[in-house]
Amino acid sequence: MEVIKTVLELKSWVSEMKSCNKRISCVPTMGYLHEGHLSLIKRAKEIGDVVVTTIFVNPTQFAPTEDLDKYPKNILRDTKLAEESGADVLFLPEAGEMYPDGFSTSIELGGVTKLFEGEIRPTHFSGVATVVAKLLLLTEADSAVFGQKDYQQTLVVKKLVRELNIPCRIVVAPIVREKDGLAMSSRNVYLEKDDRNLALGISKSLFRTKSLVESGEFHAKSIEQYFRTQLLDAGITEIDYATAVDAENLTTPEYFKKGDTVVLLVVARVGGVRLLDNAILDIP
Ligand code: PAJ
Repeated sequence: MEVIKTVLELKSWVSEMKSCNKRISCVPTMGYLHEGHLSLIKRAKEIGDVVVTTIFVNPTQFAPTEDLDKYPKNILRDTKLAEESGADVLFLPEAGEMYPDGFSTSIELGGVTKLFEGEIRPTHFSGVATVVAKLLLLTEADSAVFGQKDYQQTLVVKKLVRELNIPCRIVVAPIVREKDGLAMSSRNVYLEKDDRNLALGISKSLFRTKSLVESGEFHAKSIEQYFRTQLLDAGITEIDYATAVDAENLTTPEYFKKGDTVVLLVVARVGGVRLLDNAILDIP
């Protein structure tokens, strides 16, 4: 695996690959890799001939009050894991390489970027959209793999490539969980032992709510009420949102109906750590 730190070197590698008709698959990350990230690299390797994994803790998607400065890092370990998972290139740019002096472009997509995460973190998705657009264009990726773990982000990225005609297929890979059900996240390292146990209540409540819908409860408000009660009973009190919405556009009908795809979205804070989880299900 080659480690590339500059745009110039990356461009040169990309042209070499394109000249031998290699299909490039890209996996953007912010590093501190875990099995979830590695599953995306493995999936990318199945779809493409060569895989570029990127590690860049993108400052524009963090608000000033968020954890940019203390975002966990371990580049040595990440390099080893990325290579073992099949990455051909690890792109590791410095902030100045991605955003040189005077850089002032930002992509504002509207629509789905204004809901849920976008409501709570108003500048977040324009930071994500801008950096993802740069990474997909730089790598000239034929495909890129993103995790369902950040469900709303997958909708944002699909909208980005569709509306800006970026010729890249977006593939969404399933959520990788710890054995006990907790969705893997780089931020799980912030959880103290007791909070780690408490955090389990998130996936448990999610799965119970999924079963409720599967057993025939299609009234959106009742689903949401049940979801919240489950979380509160598990001792999760700081709930940003816990909801059932249409998987395509994140809107809430009064009742879901046959043929709908529903996504259950939850974001809650445990011990000061903001944890995201979700589950998708089809109404049979
Ligand atoms: P990051 O949080 O590092 O996540 C990188 C990719 O890994 C995302 O597509 C995310 O959904 C996926 N991922 C995280 N946890 C996962 C899990 N448990 N199972 C499966 N996939 C998982 O998301 C970002 O970085 C950034 O916003 C980025 C897209 C890189 C733009 O800066």
